[in-house]
Amino acid sequence: MFPTHRPRRLRRSAAMRDLVRETHLHPEDLIYPLFVQETSPKPEPIEAMPGQFRHTVDSLVAECEQAAKAGIEAVLLFGIPSKKDEAGSGAYAEDGVVQRAMRAIKEHKLPLLLIGDVCMCEYTSHGHCGAILDGDVDNDPSLELLIRTALSQARAGADVVAPSDMMDGRIGAIRRALDDESFEQVAILSYAAKYASAFYGPFRDAAGSAPQFGDRRSYQMDPANVREALKEVDADLEEGADMVMVKPALAYLDVIRAVKQRTNVPLAAYNVSGEYAMIEFAARAGVLDRERIIQEVLLSIKRAGADLILTYHAKEAAGWLRGR
Ligand code: PBG
Repeated sequence: MFPTHRPRRLRRSAAMRDLVRETHLHPEDLIYPLFVQETSPKPEPIEAMPGQFRHTVDSLVAECEQAAKAGIEAVLLFGIPSKKDEAGSGAYAEDGVVQRAMRAIKEHKLPLLLIGDVCMCEYTSHGHCGAILDGDVDNDPSLELLIRTALSQARAGADVVAPSDMMDGRIGAIRRALDDESFEQVAILSYAAKYASAFYGPFRDAAGSAPQFGDRRSYQMDPANVREALKEVDADLEEGADMVMVKPALAYLDVIRAVKQRTNVPLAAYNVSGEYAMIEFAARAGVLDRERIIQEVLLSIKRAGADLILTYHAKEAAGWLRGR
């Protein structure tokens, strides 16, 4: 058909490209994951994730304030307790580090939605995401620990709880428990399709949450499977999830697309610690253009079908998007 069709006509200028652009990123698409610890009186840099910190409650509030100024509307909190134990009791302590952080953010009246990551692995001495029986995570007793954790976060002011443990039946169990305590307005963002991924390596360094024996393959998903992701999503929606997540993001864009085609609920994708670290270390080595790569990655995740993106680049990217 040449020369009738000249697609380059629509690429000739920035204004023309803007006019025909199909996918747009907005600061409010981004959720900022943050770590808060009670092991040190000052914020500690995370070596495996250059630019990220294990915050104190005070430095977390300051970071949240900056993020809100940049246009971020939601943060996801992970806690690093002063001591870990077999049951992961720091996860559901009323004065646990995440619970104290949530109360502090609320006291400062920051315009941010608070999302609590609900899992046991940062708090257990064995580093697994639930209670252990005979060398494996015991599903049903673990639900009780997750319920306690979700409830303690709701009492501390969580707007959303986000179970990331991958136990069977946890969404229904948490939904019932929240409703029983009159937290029917607290939403659930389910890590519905969470894969057993090597991309979580830097996170485990950040949170000291690597399993002390075995691995997570008896509860997190096999990277080879996509039909199974749809089954997990269906089950979580049936049990009452308000939003679902695919995790990791970049190596799972096909899963994001498949889930998007399946559901009508808001879909989140987690651009995880290993994806962050690859960009940061490659940029430090001078082999790629950091800012352009970050924008391309986030745009690609959105284009694949994610409505929301959890990313450690959230604050910075929101700043760029605002300034544009
Ligand atoms: C807790 C949890 C993990 C991540 C989010 N929630 C770690 C894991 O499952 O090992 C990973 C986040 C990241 O890598 O950025 N279960």
